[in-house]
Amino acid sequence: MTRDEARNRINTLTQELNDHNYLYYVLAEPVISDYEFDQLLKELEALEKEHPELRRPDSPTLRVGGEVTKEFATVKHRYPMLSLGNTYSAEELEEFDARVRKGLGGELFEYVCELKYDGVAIGLRYENGQLTQAVTRGDGEKGDEVTANVKTIRTLPLRLRETVQAGTDLFAEPQSNVPADFEIRGEVFMPRSVFDAINKEKAEAGEALLANPRNSAAGTLKMQDSAIVAQRRLDCFLYFVLGENLPFKTHFESLDAARNWGFKVPEYTRLVPDLEGVRKFIAYWDKARHDLDFDIDGIVIKVNSYEQQRALGFTAKSPRWAIAYKFKAERVATRLLSISYQVGRTGAITPVANLEPVQLAGTTVKRASLHNADIIAKLDVRVGDWVYVEKGGEIIPKIVGVDMNRRDASSSAHEYITHCPECHTALVREEGEANHYCPNADGCGPQVLGKIEHFVSRRAMNIDSLGSETVAQLIDAKLIASYADLYELHTRKADLLALERMAEKSVNNLLDGIEQSKQVPFERVLFALGIRHVGETTARKLASHFKSMEAMQAATLEQLVDVPEVGEILARSIREWLDDVHHSELLNRLKGYGLQFALSEEQLEGRSDKLAGLTFVISGVFSRSRDDIKQLIEHNGGKNTGSVSGKTSYLVAGDNMGPEKRTKAEKLNVRIIDENQLIRLIETGSPD
Ligand code: IVH
Repeated sequence: MTRDEARNRINTLTQELNDHNYLYYVLAEPVISDYEFDQLLKELEALEKEHPELRRPDSPTLRVGGEVTKEFATVKHRYPMLSLGNTYSAEELEEFDARVRKGLGGELFEYVCELKYDGVAIGLRYENGQLTQAVTRGDGEKGDEVTANVKTIRTLPLRLRETVQAGTDLFAEPQSNVPADFEIRGEVFMPRSVFDAINKEKAEAGEALLANPRNSAAGTLKMQDSAIVAQRRLDCFLYFVLGENLPFKTHFESLDAARNWGFKVPEYTRLVPDLEGVRKFIAYWDKARHDLDFDIDGIVIKVNSYEQQRALGFTAKSPRWAIAYKFKAERVATRLLSISYQVGRTGAITPVANLEPVQLAGTTVKRASLHNADIIAKLDVRVGDWVYVEKGGEIIPKIVGVDMNRRDASSSAHEYITHCPECHTALVREEGEANHYCPNADGCGPQVLGKIEHFVSRRAMNIDSLGSETVAQLIDAKLIASYADLYELHTRKADLLALERMAEKSVNNLLDGIEQSKQVPFERVLFALGIRHVGETTARKLASHFKSMEAMQAATLEQLVDVPEVGEILARSIREWLDDVHHSELLNRLKGYGLQFALSEEQLEGRSDKLAGLTFVISGVFSRSRDDIKQLIEHNGGKNTGSVSGKTSYLVAGDNMGPEKRTKAEKLNVRIIDENQLIRLIETGSPD
């Protein structure tokens, strides 16, 4: 292929793939199969690799990230990013409406009602239909340029879809209605489902959880490595078009146009004739907001006509033609009775507030998370205080402040514990980490128990004959002090039989279960060890990278960081765990008992017959390419097909799966599983 041919092909592929992306992500109406899409993307990737200089700035290959930004450039906004005035009550809303009516001198007008998305504001510049710059709000005057990160958001068009209008003059050139240079503003957010999935993985890895979707979106946008941003699956809603001589008369029209250009403009937006319409919109969403897959913290009300907006103008801080109605935060005041501390299986200490029971959003709240020492100090929370408790996005309510007027004058600042509440070892806090840790991993009760519970759990060694209570019983009876001791239990049968509720049959079951766990594949053994920050996914990545425990043990810190998706903190945590002599002894013992310390021949080839007789349909976006998923299914004896039918065993759903496939699967009673469940199915024979 000549260079010119390559350029033409790259241009065509870029255009076609962007069109398909839009059909898939924004409209959820794909017209080609995932397989065909992958083939086109691969062809483009190959051509771009050969001719990197021909890669277009709107190339869909940019969606996977890869660019690393050391420091974000500060950029001045062309139009300052103003905020909105807030109202919290029906009266304040009436006052706003009265001001607007007065300002417009009795003219007729309409309001546009929108949801107030709770994320991070972003300004996007499009020049000649192409996304050229993405800037955060910053202080409203200047913000950070985060273009590479924003390009990973799949619902944002890198190049706009130009809707061409024929016009009335038959001989005139058709006119595009996309302004040559304009800005569009919106809110970047993390869908609730994504937030929950990330936190589930973090909990399994014993890591600190993300606080809420809003902070997670903000933190993600400021990450330096756009490849990691791509995995965080952010989304973006658009709500404001700005520019010179825009071809619209109203805000509602501009939203419609933006939707046609390919932006995700939520369909929840409504045009209403008066305040009564606004009230109805608010009343509806005050309840319905809980069913959305994203957080909103209120409603935004905007005067529709641009001319009327201009007539009303701005105050120093915000437009006079718009206002935010904020939902009442679900917040109550109650007494803080005491602060207790929990020790997790990795030794992480979590302070917990014990509260005088209080009703909040329909449930009785007795406890609230206090997260860590810094938060306690920042809020200056003291035992005996009246504290405000809020139910935000998180499952566990949190303390957001203290009523200083009701503080007892004799109270004193809370002193964070210096020693473990369980084993009294001095706590440590590592640089850059928010939590204190108890370092006595092998002698601290809840850590020992937690580690063994984790080791035997279903997704780890899957010893289901050993429940939490039995583990505690075995520790109490001094039959085990670590998970390695489980493999000596067969020599202690008489002691086991002497335990309460332990008859011959349950002892045999227990010992059989332990014996069978020796066949559990290497990656799950790695997960079972309970190394801080090593969750299921990381364990899988480590196993497929190093292939054996020996190779991993020999890896330097740098070599660990080289593993895809392993960062500095994780690498250090692994290296420290391996360097501990107790752990090398533990590993030697486990190896001696015959646990899987390397990938099996079959795994090395990536082959098994675990999926024999099963038929799969895959749809959506996965952490690896769709081709890889298909290959995985085939290498394990399964069959891939394109559409859901009565013969389909599983529909494997990635992100943004087309709705038709889901509906059909539900109708035909075909089980829908995600990527992790597929892996589990291959490893354990069951997706659960
Ligand atoms: S319009 C000049 N519409 O709320 C008016 N803002 O306090 C520009 N926000 O910084 C804002 N949803 O981050 C507008 N539908 C919506 C919104 C919205 C969320 C955020 C935005 C803005 C803040 C204003």
